[in-house]
Amino acid sequence: MVRGSLVVAALGLGAVLSAQAGIAYVPFADAKPILEVIQPQLWPAALQGKSPAAVEALWSDWVKREDMAIRARVLEGDGDSVINFLLFGTSFTTQPRVTENELAGVLVRQRETGATRFVPSPLLEKRIDDFIAGLVSPGGNARLELARQVIARQSINPSTDAGKAQLRRYLEDRAAVVGSAVHASTLLDPNAPLVDQVTIFRDRGLSSDTSIAIDFGIERALEDVKSNGLLKPALVRRVAIVGPGLDFTDKQEGHDFYPPQTIQPFAVIDSLTRLGLAAAGGVQVTAFDLSPRVLGHFESARARARQGTAYTLVLPRELDRPWSRELTGYWQRFGDRIGQTATIATPPPTAGRVAVRGVAVRPSVVLSVTPRDLNFVVQRADLAAADRFDLMLATNILLYYDVFEQSLAMANIAKMLRPGGLFLTNDRVFELPSSPLRSAGMTDVVYLEQPGASAKGDRITWYRR
Ligand SMILES: C[S@@+](CC[C@H](N)C(=O)[O-])C[C@H]1O[C@@H](n2cnc3c(N)ncnc32)[C@H](O)[C@@H]1O
Repeated sequence: MVRGSLVVAALGLGAVLSAQAGIAYVPFADAKPILEVIQPQLWPAALQGKSPAAVEALWSDWVKREDMAIRARVLEGDGDSVINFLLFGTSFTTQPRVTENELAGVLVRQRETGATRFVPSPLLEKRIDDFIAGLVSPGGNARLELARQVIARQSINPSTDAGKAQLRRYLEDRAAVVGSAVHASTLLDPNAPLVDQVTIFRDRGLSSDTSIAIDFGIERALEDVKSNGLLKPALVRRVAIVGPGLDFTDKQEGHDFYPPQTIQPFAVIDSLTRLGLAAAGGVQVTAFDLSPRVLGHFESARARARQGTAYTLVLPRELDRPWSRELTGYWQRFGDRIGQTATIATPPPTAGRVAVRGVAVRPSVVLSVTPRDLNFVVQRADLAAADRFDLMLATNILLYYDVFEQSLAMANIAKMLRPGGLFLTNDRVFELPSSPLRSAGMTDVVYLEQPGASAKGDRITWYRR
């Protein structure tokens, strides 16, 4: 992990060092068998070349620094989200969204060196103009408010001419980095070493983005798990979702004509109920996350639910994206077990050809989801045997971590699951011989059927404790 504690101290995150009630750091005893089997170059840099006794002596210090370094990546991820908002948002501009092709057009290859050089397109320049104007007067737009905070951390004042010029340079530079990353991930060489493929975002900021597609994947996996007898009907009571996410704006289905929202915890309750897996007394969901923005979002939704207010989910579907028939069917039935159809304002023309469904999630369902601060790479909740989870999920998260971090996360998950409990993920991880979680099967799902190109989807692996 390259990010140092100095960055974290500068950001004032030292408070995370104080232990939270019921949350423990991963002990050396759980790290030791991992270090014994992974190759020395996959050890954290600070521990490489050290004897087992020396690593043990350093462990409690290393684990706290690692916690702080990971939490600092949340701020970087917020910075990336702001750039996605600049590229794809429609709430601050009448300019069209930047498409994936246009994104390719704003990155040009320099002939003489072969290196990639960034040239902002006229469309991006106009978006930057409108974005800067929006930042000066956010007018209650939650995404512009977050953008202001991110910009303020750069000590840029967009109200002055000098600040505006500085902000333009900052946005152009960051758009170049985010644009290149989008390309790197879509163009990942399938022949790249497996370790690079499964840890592709290990050096990136932590994004909170989420969309409905993965929740369709989870519903399909739960269906398969049920028919294999790995989860019995009406017996799922306790569920944990690590990293539920909060959609912001992205290049696919993430739009900004509605407030930021979280989908996964509600989707999972909906699916467990539809499949007859939820216990008669209902399902309690713990939403573990380390992003204050994500955790705060749940707290606000719960406060509104206590006053009897439903949580409105807006589910966009871009009509020009070739969704599979199954995903479209899921989108149509989504929410029928947790709420009612809600009326949603028509999206602005700049959002493109998009259909929307609205679902008002019942307050009782909102209150069955409890947020909890946890960094699952280095922490676990200390749970009595009777309180361990029947089912845990972490989707689109493990690829942000290296092999050692992923293996620690798996050890922490195992400690929070009841014996026989299941962990579902769509990220590929190395299954180490020492891991208490064993792969019990997998489900392949198709999200996009692209004529003439390979279908896009996910493989959800079911791990069993
Ligand atoms: C890319 S989003 C994925 C959201 C959702 N699971 C999905 O698949 O659409 C990643 C989420 O994981 C959270 N996250 C990342 N690293 C984490 C960690 N070490 N511990 C807990 N949450 C983490 C982020 O804050 C965010 O909410």
